[in-house]
Amino acid sequence: MDSLSQTARPARRVCAAFAGPPRAGRPALLRRATNGAVDRDNRRSMATATTLSHVYPIGSRVNERGHLEIGGCDVIELAERFGTPAYVVARDDLQARARAFLDAFAAAGQADFDVVFASKAFPATPVLALFAGEGLGCDVASAGELHLALRAGFDPARIVMHGNARDDGELRAALDARVGQIVIDNAGDIDRLERLTAGAPERQPVLIRITPAVAGDTHEKISTGQADSKFGVSLAQAPAAIERVRAVAGLDLQGLHMHLGSQLHSLEPFRAAIKAIAGLGEFPVYNLGGGLGVAYTADQQPLSTEEYVGALVDAAREHLGPGRRLLAEPGRALVANGCVTLYSVIGVKHNVSTWVSVDGGMSDNLRPMLYGSRYEAEIASRLGGTTRVHLAGKHCESGDVLIRDALLDDPRPGDVLVTPVTGAYGYAMANNYNGVLRAPVIFVSEGDARVVVRRETFDDLNARDV
Ligand code: LLP
Repeated sequence: MDSLSQTARPARRVCAAFAGPPRAGRPALLRRATNGAVDRDNRRSMATATTLSHVYPIGSRVNERGHLEIGGCDVIELAERFGTPAYVVARDDLQARARAFLDAFAAAGQADFDVVFASKAFPATPVLALFAGEGLGCDVASAGELHLALRAGFDPARIVMHGNARDDGELRAALDARVGQIVIDNAGDIDRLERLTAGAPERQPVLIRITPAVAGDTHEKISTGQADSKFGVSLAQAPAAIERVRAVAGLDLQGLHMHLGSQLHSLEPFRAAIKAIAGLGEFPVYNLGGGLGVAYTADQQPLSTEEYVGALVDAAREHLGPGRRLLAEPGRALVANGCVTLYSVIGVKHNVSTWVSVDGGMSDNLRPMLYGSRYEAEIASRLGGTTRVHLAGKHCESGDVLIRDALLDDPRPGDVLVTPVTGAYGYAMANNYNGVLRAPVIFVSEGDARVVVRRETFDDLNARDV
């Protein structure tokens, strides 16, 4: 488990996984301690360990009422107060993970670094503002994300602008904002930037994104480092691109960028890629991208932030030379585990399988449908359970299934159902399919809850009509 879970957890609230044996009177819960069809009372007496899966936000626990508690707030009360579906974000979890990244660089002895939040993972202004306040920079991949980052208060000098298909307007917006670095993805970017910076009084710092021809072990749709990726300049074409950029008067080539892909669980691809780009010359700055994987289910044990950052720093020192400025662009690892989604169970249907339908689905979490991603679920007031169900979303297509073969405790209409690890690319890829309103974001911390992004209204659905 990530050392965060042990060291950075706020003292007041203890994750049930570390809370010791169950207290008398509290329902014995969780981690599928039983098997077979037993009734709920039997199951409670049979279960032996109170262990809340480590995928829940830091500080989560099961409270005295047997309800899931996030950020000191009873999830059942949150659902009553704010409605469902809702993204519930444990503010302290995000903070702790941001600090862990900064601390890990310092602990690895890296003097000159920046941790740049990949805003695409959770592009909500309050989340961005929180990370700006924690001293992170921001990675933006479009003029829209740039707009959000600036509104959230990031110093433009700490913004890195990406994109494989940026038009003049997007690059102009980045130049006008005086972002810290524009990452050049292709020869067309060089042409555009040459034109747009002609006669400019100051040079725009840039990096060149290199495709290192190293594939990480992840879903093909979120892998980027392999040869013939749609992103970046190949190793073979890099020397010419470097020479070209150096010849543009308005550009200041500071270094190279790489990003292998997302949800990676092994350090080897990072080491291999750093070694691969080392052959392209010496530069003062290297941006090593994002990609640190997280646990979505209890059986997954991802790399810790310290292991990951330590390995990047060591490999950079060995292959790229000492004294370089290093940037990392974590997205998922900063926000995934800090958020859970609350749903209400609408119906339970017995077909060949048992289907539990909820009031959200592919409009608030596209990841199961796009990448076959696996999630856990619990009934927030009766954790654990052995009723095998498919968890269906409310959208008009058969693919709208959030989880197959979830084990729940006798789900019934009206139950509040929770899926953890929805902070990364959930809100980010939310949509209005079937006219479903996008869910609010609720920040919880030390027993307080507040809406930081409101639920959409039906009028929002008409807001762009002319
Ligand atoms: N830097 C660059 C240039 C990126 O393209 C990305 C992610 C990141 C950093 C952050 O990667 P992370 O630390 O989050 O792995 N929608 C997909 C993920 C797409 C990732 C896109 N780029 C998903 O839900 O899994």
